[in-house]
Amino acid sequence: MAILDLRQLKIGDSVTNKAVYFSSYELAVWQKPKGEKQTYVKGFVTYKGREIAFSIWSATLVEIFKNNDLVGHILNISGEIKEFKKQPQLSITGFGDPEVTHTTDEFIEKLNVDLLFSEFADFIKTNFTESMKKVANIIFFKDKAIIDRFKVEFAGEKMHDAKVGGVLNHSLKGLRLTKTLIENDSRLEQYKCILYLGWLFHDIGKIFEMHDGHYTENSFVSHRITGIELLVQNKIELLTVLSEREYYILISILEGHHGEYESKAKTIWAYIIHLVDMLESQTTGIMDKLHTGNITLKDNGNTTVYVNGENLVV
Ligand SMILES: [Fe+2]
Repeated sequence: MAILDLRQLKIGDSVTNKAVYFSSYELAVWQKPKGEKQTYVKGFVTYKGREIAFSIWSATLVEIFKNNDLVGHILNISGEIKEFKKQPQLSITGFGDPEVTHTTDEFIEKLNVDLLFSEFADFIKTNFTESMKKVANIIFFKDKAIIDRFKVEFAGEKMHDAKVGGVLNHSLKGLRLTKTLIENDSRLEQYKCILYLGWLFHDIGKIFEMHDGHYTENSFVSHRITGIELLVQNKIELLTVLSEREYYILISILEGHHGEYESKAKTIWAYIIHLVDMLESQTTGIMDKLHTGNITLKDNGNTTVYVNGENLVV
């Protein structure tokens, strides 16, 4: 039984008995012109980082999706690839053979987390001072449960590094950017400790906000806050290495690292980390979209990729 490869779909393709992984969905209501209402399912299926929308209109299938939580499940389906807003959309019309099963691993993109983690640990070993290493140890390395989660969690459901090891990859790439920034302007050297540590911890809260690439039921509280919670839990130990002011600057970085998109940065260090975060996540997001074929072909022959509200020509 084949998996439906979402990276190679053409409008008009019919799909027979192909496995898909449901990453999210919801029930929606369509109001017909005559006033009648019809409930349908709309959501997304994912394969190796490529995500496309799906819809289900069959009342029997809608009932099944309504009565079961199928997010994170794999089902064999039949249907057709239709066009919706210039993008392929999977219209599911039936189920396929229930006997043939696949594992989540076949659908999810995985980074080499052991290799990434050794690069991450090496970076800290080479670039951090002894007191910075102590702080990294208090939050990360002394707690195997934290490290194990940090190694494998996604950076997000879809924006950038939405894959196993994504948050680790994002953190490692941002450490390198932070190093470049510090080396680029010697006036930043004095802030090296706070910038490195701030970056190191800026997304640590994602290990509580997400699980296996999906937002948890308590994710209405942002990883900015759950990360702060982790620092607060370790406050007494952190204050054996950091001054109180440094501790609160780190808190300000976790709180403000999304800048104008959420709680605005209140310190220059939070703002700089926000800029590093934007540069790293947006650039990675573009490359992830190109890599997975998440692009739009325009009538004039151009290919575009959707970035931060704009369709940018590739
Ligand atoms: Fe973040």
